[in-house]
Amino acid sequence: MELDAKIPNNVNLSSEPKLQRALEKWQPRFLDWWMDMGPEGFQKDDVYLRTAISVDPAGWAHYDYVKMPDYRWGIFLTPQQSGRVIGFGDNQGQPVWNEVPGEFRTQLRRLIVTQGDTEPASVEQQRRLGKTAPSVFDLRNLFQVNVEEGRHLWAMVYLLHSYFGRDGREEAEELLDRRSGDRDKPRILGAFNEPCDDWLNFYMFTMFTDRDGKYQLLALAESGFDPLARTTKFMLTEEAFHMSVGETGVGRIVDRTAQLMREKKDDDVRKHGAIDLPTIQKYLNFWVSVSSDLFGGEISTNAAQYFAAGLKGRNREESYDDHKLLDSFYSMEVSKEGRLVTEEIPLRNAMNEVLRDDYIEDCQRGVDRWNKALEDAGLSDRLKLPHRRFHRQIGIYSGLHFSPEGVPISEEEWKRKRGEWLPTDEDQAFVRSLMHAVTEPGKMASWIGPPRQGIKGKPLEFEYVRKA
Ligand SMILES: [Fe+2]
Ligand SMILES: [Fe+2]
Repeated sequence: MELDAKIPNNVNLSSEPKLQRALEKWQPRFLDWWMDMGPEGFQKDDVYLRTAISVDPAGWAHYDYVKMPDYRWGIFLTPQQSGRVIGFGDNQGQPVWNEVPGEFRTQLRRLIVTQGDTEPASVEQQRRLGKTAPSVFDLRNLFQVNVEEGRHLWAMVYLLHSYFGRDGREEAEELLDRRSGDRDKPRILGAFNEPCDDWLNFYMFTMFTDRDGKYQLLALAESGFDPLARTTKFMLTEEAFHMSVGETGVGRIVDRTAQLMREKKDDDVRKHGAIDLPTIQKYLNFWVSVSSDLFGGEISTNAAQYFAAGLKGRNREESYDDHKLLDSFYSMEVSKEGRLVTEEIPLRNAMNEVLRDDYIEDCQRGVDRWNKALEDAGLSDRLKLPHRRFHRQIGIYSGLHFSPEGVPISEEEWKRKRGEWLPTDEDQAFVRSLMHAVTEPGKMASWIGPPRQGIKGKPLEFEYVRKA
């Protein structure tokens, strides 16, 4: 463990001076990016943050006040498992790779760069949210998510620098050059170019988009390229927090809305400074659909190659019996001349869809918990996950139109109904009109309920962010 080194790490970086120097050269570039594109304002404030200091499940995190630019972004891989073998694909049973196999170099680099690109992208998307945080508690959580996405970028850059030589270093530079939403140099994936400029968007993003991240990391944690498996495994421990921010954030909005609906006997809670359920539903529809797109096309030769090569597996690969999938099929509903017909797709080509299935199930569990809160409040309204075919831009359903129930509809109907299903300009303007910073510790904005508990045993009134 080299915790006091310039770059904290558990990979014995000091024994590789060349790599260490290259990363130390990248470090000030990262910091410049953080100051330019990280949270706007607050950089001099003391934030009560969790920092990763080991990979030991019992005590990997340390909590204290830190100024964000002083955050100790480090490189942590879970320990090497001796005798680990590739768990799936054509190379199943072979020892895992500790170097990049030449024949898979391009594919591996693409997987790492694509994952790496999402990390700074989300920080960029969220950079102005601090100015309108609904509480000091939420403000701190935003910054916690942001610094950890920064660490995830470090995790991917470490792999690029240490295993991909010169082109890896070039990719690491480009990860700092692209900008979310920029017309000329956008981030690689669609959802990571969508503005995330109000807190309803932020919670939906951390609930649904970070959850895509979780499933990508789970699939990469199975990789036969061992350093990738070990680094993504540790990233998952941090990712869990991001999704809890999203799930509890939306949950607290639902709590507040339900409370007002009951107290005022009125579904239109907008006039009471809260967000009505139909608006919450529209935001949910939007973020679920753009996050679903992140899994890629339903039928994908890339996905088949990643699986065949042993680069990217399924979620918890060990829970399956067959790891080769040479003669298995996936029944998929495909659109043929405007009608949906079931086709049998070779399972390896349906790997994105297999991962998306697990994702959707996971999302449903979260929605069920929100609905439980509505039920407990004595309301009959429910939130619903849109069908996987709804509002897709990638894959076999893109370019077609479906209702949130997944029923094929005409373009005219889509145009007529769109505003009932997705946030309109007016909805967004309304949500934005609610966004004002609440800076007194323990107090909440009008549109969100209090969290159940504070952070790390601290009371809700604790000063999680201390002004400089
Ligand atoms: Fe991340
Ligand atoms: Fe995340």
